[in-house]
Amino acid sequence: MTQANQVKDRTQTTNRSASPIAAVSGAYAAENSVESFRSDRRHVLDLDDFSPEEIEGVFQNADAMSEVLNRQIKKVPTLRGKTVITMFYEASTRTRVSFEQAGKILSADVINVSGGGTSTEKGESLYNTALTLQAMNADIIVIRHSHSGAPYFLARNLDACIINAGDGTHAHPTQGLLDLYTIRRNLGNIKGRKVVIVGDVLYSRVARSNLWGLTKMGANVVLCAPPTLLPLDFLDEQRRTKGHPFANVEIETNVERALEGADVVMPLRLQMERQKAGHLPTLREYSRMYGINAERLKLASPNVLVMHPGPMNEGVEIDPEVAHGSRSVIEEQVTNGVAIRMAILYGIATPVRERRYVGSRQ
Ligand code: CP
Repeated sequence: MTQANQVKDRTQTTNRSASPIAAVSGAYAAENSVESFRSDRRHVLDLDDFSPEEIEGVFQNADAMSEVLNRQIKKVPTLRGKTVITMFYEASTRTRVSFEQAGKILSADVINVSGGGTSTEKGESLYNTALTLQAMNADIIVIRHSHSGAPYFLARNLDACIINAGDGTHAHPTQGLLDLYTIRRNLGNIKGRKVVIVGDVLYSRVARSNLWGLTKMGANVVLCAPPTLLPLDFLDEQRRTKGHPFANVEIETNVERALEGADVVMPLRLQMERQKAGHLPTLREYSRMYGINAERLKLASPNVLVMHPGPMNEGVEIDPEVAHGSRSVIEEQVTNGVAIRMAILYGIATPVRERRYVGSRQ
């Protein structure tokens, strides 16, 4: 079965009566649409404040959005009249393009702003730039920023809904959700799956958001890295205290041991600066000790999923034959990213009252 057919097949087996798109098309009773978000949720800043039920609600709506993505005409009027502004103060391909595509498919007006060419170059503060954009009636602001906490600052000070598209080394919640969704679509369930995250955990916002999401959904998470690239609190036995959210997360510095029986392996991008900062002797040494290659992958489950948030350093944290091999779902992650971001925009932009009565296709 081709990937497109697999997606179609899975979509057909979902509960269509629970779909926001079904509500939009008027084909099903609107009151059956899924409450994808907590009724008081206005922002998506990280996954620490998501419940497993809320995450499952996002997945169900993403299933409906995937169905739209498989149509010949990829357009629904769900967010007509809403304005989404994306503010990217750091480089991005996947996140930025997928938010833009998601907004446009849902018929929102999407305006893209980047650090270069705006008044920030004249010294305007982030707050004043965001306030200016809000004054232009932005309903949702999607922000990527190199400073951890920047989206929280906007959420505290603006009326618009804020979505964190990656803040410093802190969080990347929509990446976490699309990774979880990709596991669910391919393996059926997340609970009990052994998920091995390999590499620069210390600086990775993707690893942090995935940790929240995976542990909430009941996965057995293994973090594998040289000790210099692990956060200190993971090396501290205090973490084992009862009630600590990551008490069951395993730490393994030997990649071969970590990979044994893995259902998912997720190497992280190794930033070149790590060597200069003294975290690693050389990138070649890192690749030799921790790089995911075909030989190492044989230690994992035969059905292992190879994932990568991108962008990849092929030949460093992952070999090209693994990145593009039969177990890789890296491109599917990108496709799922659009469906997940559509589900998030829908959930955030549509107040509970309207979510139930979305109206019929015009
Ligand atoms: N995964 C991710 O955030 O990729 P981009 O930097 O291309 O958005």
